[in-house]
Amino acid sequence: MDRSVQVETGTLVADAVRAAEIDLGLPCGGQGRCGRCTVIVREGEVQRPPNQRLSGEDRAAGYALACQATIEGDATIYVPPQRIERVLETDKTATEVQVPLSYDALRDQPLRKYVVSVSEPSLDDQTDDWSRLKRELARQHDVQELTAELPVLRRLSGALRDGEWTVTVVVEHDRWEEPEGPPRLVDVLPGDHLESLWGVAIDIGTTTNVVWLVDLLSGQVMAQVADYNGQIARGEDVISRIIYASKGDGLADLQRLVRETLNGLIEQAAEQAGTRPGEIYRAVVAGNSTMTHLFVGLPPASIRLMPFVTTINQIPTLRAHDLGLHLCPDAGVDCLPGIASYVGADITPGVLSSGMCYGDKLSLFIDVGTNGEIVLGDCTWLIACACSAGPAFEGAGVLNGMRATRGAIEEVWIDAHTYEPTLRVIGPEGEAPRGLCGSGLIGLMAELFMAGIVDKGGNVNVALDTPRTREGEHGGEYVVVWADESAAGEDIVLTDVDMDNLMRAKAAIYAGFSVLANSVGLSITDVEQVLIGGAFGQYINIEKAIQIGLLPDAPWESFHYMGNTSVRGAYLALLSRESRQQVVNIASMMTYLELSADNTFFDAFSAALFLPHTDESQFPSVVEQMAERGR
Ligand code: FES
Repeated sequence: MDRSVQVETGTLVADAVRAAEIDLGLPCGGQGRCGRCTVIVREGEVQRPPNQRLSGEDRAAGYALACQATIEGDATIYVPPQRIERVLETDKTATEVQVPLSYDALRDQPLRKYVVSVSEPSLDDQTDDWSRLKRELARQHDVQELTAELPVLRRLSGALRDGEWTVTVVVEHDRWEEPEGPPRLVDVLPGDHLESLWGVAIDIGTTTNVVWLVDLLSGQVMAQVADYNGQIARGEDVISRIIYASKGDGLADLQRLVRETLNGLIEQAAEQAGTRPGEIYRAVVAGNSTMTHLFVGLPPASIRLMPFVTTINQIPTLRAHDLGLHLCPDAGVDCLPGIASYVGADITPGVLSSGMCYGDKLSLFIDVGTNGEIVLGDCTWLIACACSAGPAFEGAGVLNGMRATRGAIEEVWIDAHTYEPTLRVIGPEGEAPRGLCGSGLIGLMAELFMAGIVDKGGNVNVALDTPRTREGEHGGEYVVVWADESAAGEDIVLTDVDMDNLMRAKAAIYAGFSVLANSVGLSITDVEQVLIGGAFGQYINIEKAIQIGLLPDAPWESFHYMGNTSVRGAYLALLSRESRQQVVNIASMMTYLELSADNTFFDAFSAALFLPHTDESQFPSVVEQMAERGR
């Protein structure tokens, strides 16, 4: 990229790269564990401490871990293109949203706007501005016992005078922890501004943050924007971030990063809809427990330590100014309730928007992302667990893994006779592949297995008569893309070690299903519908996910993609008091099963460490397809 930058001796290569404005990802938060921040030192003085992620050959070839190596003098460093973070393609995340038919802003919204005319003070009537406003609001609109906090009071005097004693006030009538609470003044604007009322639904994902800007008068979503969570630069999964948060000013740094991402998104959404962030009067926030803790600045350390507890599962309503969010300073910010360290406030709104809490069908709700969360039940009972599947399906822990951005292979088909692959790559036609994202990895695993290139244990058969399989540095491997066709000019491969990581991830998720069902005396075959949430779920090919034993072998029509259920649930809770209350009910009726304390989990996990499973009777359709292929 031909960039030059000057840094102090002893600076980490990662910091020097960042100083050169190259966005290098640090998937494990710079702990030296993942080996995915490798750069190549072409020449010069760079100190590279020994690390098990770098072999002697790697070191001889100039490889260095950017998060560990330090600059000791002039140096030339090459950052491989697949290591550079790319901008999220937000158009892939936008979805069509139906306003609930029964939505009625006057009845359902805790927020209201009123135009109030106030008599001008005089030497005969020196009543203060605040008492004057309260008196008229009670008289003209029957709003009694109004309260206000300092930020809005600071704007009151100016607004009354600029509006020549006519103002529009925004009043919040209740909060969820205080349903009967006194009304509260959120904003005061000079003149008549009844034309709009804005709110935002926010989903703080470990990987992606999403903001929907909502016109609260009509209920319509007027803008949908998404971006990578800025915290990714400090670690790709929640555990790396918890570790980072416990060091120095790590917590403040992570809180700042997510705040900056969200503020950027809020500004972008407001611009798209032709409004200002300062006119947004409410936010409802969904996010897993770690993300919620980091967002509000609570130390998340206990989430990771036995016995895995959060500081708080239901945070009371906060104000935008407490959190540094670019909304109206007094806007209420409701963080939705979670139920446990690893079943957080992304799953409760997920259950709400999936509708499983309303029907009597036995439903399995799954949200596969950086973690796998599972809920089983119907309208009368719900039980949930979390599987530490790890971020393998997000591309971490896999040599050529990457997130679903431009250049990622998202679908693979393999000819069972020639073993040659056909690929679909994200991006414009002709885009050179850079690596494999989650859906591509699932597809590839299934195709390799069904074509007989890997065995039931997930090992690549290097004895096949094809140059595509070979013995590599990390054991057997299959070459998906040859170097001359890839963006980085290097072969894109799937190795035995990658397969091992992916097998563990899929086994953890499937074992979660079985243990959850067994814990209530049911079997996985009793499930009537499988609801798949999370942005990742949208791209899973059901047939292939069943072939590798990730999803249960149920008829295809029982699977339903729900899209990003987390932000959709936050949107529903933003629209109505009733939905907001329903999320609280879901949280209180859901039983949490701690898998690490369940003595059947390990057996279920070990049994699932095969393709598709050691107990093939659980996967009759896969056995049938294998028989058809003579396997
Ligand atoms: S090894 Fe450097 S970021 Fe993980």
